[in-house]
Amino acid sequence: MPGSSKARNPRPGPHQQRVLEAIGVQVWVPRRASEADVSAPALVSLPTTEPGSVQSPVQVKNVPAAGTDSASCAWAALEAEVATCTRCALHETRTRTVFGTGSHQARWLVIGEAPGADEDLQAEPFVGRAGQLLTEMLRAVGLSREQVFIANILKCRPPENRDPKPEEAKSCENYLLRQIDLIRPGLILAVGRIAAQNLLQVDTPIGKLRGQTHEYGAARIPVVVTYHPAYLLRSPGQKARSWDDLCLARSIVAPV
Ligand code: URA
Repeated sequence: MPGSSKARNPRPGPHQQRVLEAIGVQVWVPRRASEADVSAPALVSLPTTEPGSVQSPVQVKNVPAAGTDSASCAWAALEAEVATCTRCALHETRTRTVFGTGSHQARWLVIGEAPGADEDLQAEPFVGRAGQLLTEMLRAVGLSREQVFIANILKCRPPENRDPKPEEAKSCENYLLRQIDLIRPGLILAVGRIAAQNLLQVDTPIGKLRGQTHEYGAARIPVVVTYHPAYLLRSPGQKARSWDDLCLARSIVAPV
């Protein structure tokens, strides 16, 4: 597993600064040049390249799937299968399945934990308050929701938003694997502990998983882990770390 990368960053430009402020990341900017302490670390930091780490931005092109028609047939078949899934007990309590949304050609695949109440009603991932923050976080790196694909470890809501059970994650795993296979993303952004631990098949705490590059599957897709936006809403002080993670992801695979 490649090592971690943490570093100093150039100051964000005016647009980026506005977006960062919108998502609640505080950016320290000295009022006058004379006030600048050149030794003070920037609060918002972009990672630099470290020997041996997967760091330089690469323009990853998605390998086209077997053909547009067969790819769209495969997507339609998969979505229909998910919509009628009864593999685990969650089908008894769900309102709607949440398949995932976004571009089938996305470079970034964002993977969360499981639908919550809003998602269960609207059949779309990350549409509640946490989802709004995720949308802002993506916007901060120049991405719209439509440019990425957003999915979850589970396609159905666990009652009372409890953590997914291992057998539920196992039952749902094949759907996510097939989505990954169809998209062939250049990078996976795992948001939250549950997503990260299930994808990487580890029980390492999220604080140790973030800030470095992991790999997923035989294709060795780079995986960057960051905090779940619901956690960031409760702990806004961690937003700067999440911003670092997004910058790390962007440095590995340019998102568009
Ligand atoms: N939290 C998640 O992890 N996924 C969603 O879709 C919504 C909230």
